[in-house]
Amino acid sequence: MSGMRIMVTGGAGFIGSAYVRHALADPEGARICVYDLLTYAGHRENLTDLPAERMDLVVGDVADAQALRAACDTFAPDAIVHFAAETHVDRSLSDPQVFVRTNVQGTQAVLDVASERGIRLVLVSTDEVYGDRAGREAATPGTALDPSNVYAATKAAGDMLAIVAHRQRGQDVVITRCTNNYGPRQTPEKLIPLMILRAAADEELPVYGDGQQQRDWLHANDHADGVHRALRAGTAGRVYHFAGGMARTNLSVIHALLAELGETNARIRHVADRPAHDLLYALDCTASVAELGWAPRTSFASGLAETVAWYRANTAWCRAVAGPELNAFLEANYGGRAEHR
Ligand code: NAD
Ligand code: DAU
Repeated sequence: MSGMRIMVTGGAGFIGSAYVRHALADPEGARICVYDLLTYAGHRENLTDLPAERMDLVVGDVADAQALRAACDTFAPDAIVHFAAETHVDRSLSDPQVFVRTNVQGTQAVLDVASERGIRLVLVSTDEVYGDRAGREAATPGTALDPSNVYAATKAAGDMLAIVAHRQRGQDVVITRCTNNYGPRQTPEKLIPLMILRAAADEELPVYGDGQQQRDWLHANDHADGVHRALRAGTAGRVYHFAGGMARTNLSVIHALLAELGETNARIRHVADRPAHDLLYALDCTASVAELGWAPRTSFASGLAETVAWYRANTAWCRAVAGPELNAFLEANYGGRAEHR
């Protein structure tokens, strides 16, 4: 497997670009082709510091099987790691169609192209496919899928298509599911970067409902490490879990961020809750630890401090990613949200 040629879909996004960095640092070497549509969530800036002689960027849609096939014909990958997705739960409430197109149709196209070439596919999925774990045990890879929102339902559909491809045609596909990620280069529509940037701009911090929902945070670099291990050593047809073991309420995360920022006057505003808001996600990582030798390395305290410092230092990145489309979404979503009762 030395010097693998890896096609990374969604490699210009938050976790995909962390994965590209991780794979390029593999001592056995790697050559990367990022295949990414550069939606509002994909940024060339996430890749510009990387060695151009070892990394190509092809702008293309995963749901366009012809274009994906052509990119694979040119690059001749040994494997595909599939991150590309529509990923924001709040957006999936107002625009479900694009989630179905990218996360379901796109995943089937990636499965088909990998199958035609007889190469391994790692499908990057999420803890959200198991739905709310409050009052239930941590999900194991065998737990039934029970999604609560369109994003999670479309990710679950993609996972099901991969399981079927393995069963029906013996396809070499490995699925990974992970808890909430944080770290540099996350688009500031998600909780942690949104709160950092709004607090820095002295804007109100919109907390959905009572803010007592819990998320289990994992640094994106630890997720990238898990995905790379699954690519190299995962068993075809299996599901591997990666969790931070750092479950925190949203309010406590915001308070930790404010402490890190040295903000004492931030204005937290409790706004209307997300419909069918999952209170808790929890994953059992036994198989990933035992089979892949995976363990998270970044403590939440040090990872959060590093993340805050990164956003403070990279104001040009923040300006570049906050285009009109993202600003319009934030204005619609946070500008006029009702107070929480
Ligand atoms: P992101 O929203 O930051 O990036 C998504 C990337 O996919 C962007 O570069 C975007 O341009 C690209 N993309 C979107 N639609 C595309 C299309 N049709 N064709 C090609 N490219 C397209 O996402 P992220 O947070 O980095 O998540 C990456 C993956 O990890 C997703 O599959 C997500 O479900 C999964 N995941 C995310 C988290 C998390 O906390 N962020 C946790 C678990 C799993
Ligand atoms: O659990 C993994 C999932 O984590 C990934 O599959 C998703 O792609 C990723 O977006 C993330 O989903 P969440 O919905 O958990 O992330 P988000 O950052 O949108 O919200 C985190 C929590 O914070 C959630 O309980 C909602 C809450 N929240 C979020 C925002 C943006 C707020 O209270 N206020 C906000 O403004």
